[in-house]
Amino acid sequence: MEIKKSVKKYWDERSRSYDCSPGHADMPEVWKSLLSRIFSRKGRILDVGTGTGFLAVLLSELGHEVVGIDISIGMLKKARSKSKDVHFKLGDAENLPFADESFDGVVCRHVLWTLPNPEKAVSEWYRVTKPDGKVVIIDSSYQKNTIDRVKSFVGKLGIAVIEKRNPWKTSYAKKLPMRNMSAEKCFSLLKECGFKDVRVHDISWIREIVLRRRSFFYRLAWSSKSYFVFEGLKEV
Ligand SMILES: C[S@@+](CC[C@H](N)C(=O)[O-])C[C@H]1O[C@@H](n2cnc3c(N)ncnc32)[C@H](O)[C@@H]1O
Repeated sequence: MEIKKSVKKYWDERSRSYDCSPGHADMPEVWKSLLSRIFSRKGRILDVGTGTGFLAVLLSELGHEVVGIDISIGMLKKARSKSKDVHFKLGDAENLPFADESFDGVVCRHVLWTLPNPEKAVSEWYRVTKPDGKVVIIDSSYQKNTIDRVKSFVGKLGIAVIEKRNPWKTSYAKKLPMRNMSAEKCFSLLKECGFKDVRVHDISWIREIVLRRRSFFYRLAWSSKSYFVFEGLKEV
């Protein structure tokens, strides 16, 4: 099956339970406060791979004009049920249906690893951003040593029982270049795509709070992951 079809199929299925998994829709007030610091000026913002629209809705509540784009109809149905103020649109993060320099900011959370052509995608995000605007990438490091792999395996066994789903099911992901995401890879990608000023913030504290509220298996599966925000500023 063509990779984009597998991606759509996987996320359509995942949309049913996506918001229940830890770290997806937890602590909206914490995220709102973080987003208000990242996007301190009101503007037009694109949430790429918006999923169930968690960030898009918060940004809209903060007074921005927000467009959320996603490849999965299942995800978009969930997102549309949450807000009438956000314009949710079906589309591909690697081929954006928007004019050059049409957004003040682009944000994407937990999306880069899902893309077959991350460099093409980030170049597109650069293209649609206005000069002096920014592209914000929120993601985790997936690099693991042997002990981390064992912990992750046992944790995922528990998650399979708790969530009644197969956490290893993203078979298409094995073919993806950012599958083993790291902060270094993310930094290089932003630089290669034209961003001169790239800043990083550690937000592992958000994950720690989320995991404190979840069972042992989630803590085990995610214990070794770091969590970061990258901001790439587009020069004037
Ligand atoms: C892990 S979810 C993240 C959802 C949301 N950003 C969040 O933070 O909760 C990844 C999302 O990226 C979407 N996605 C994957 N490939 C995409 C592509 N090529 N274009 C647009 N969306 C894509 C999936 O459908 C899914 O909704």
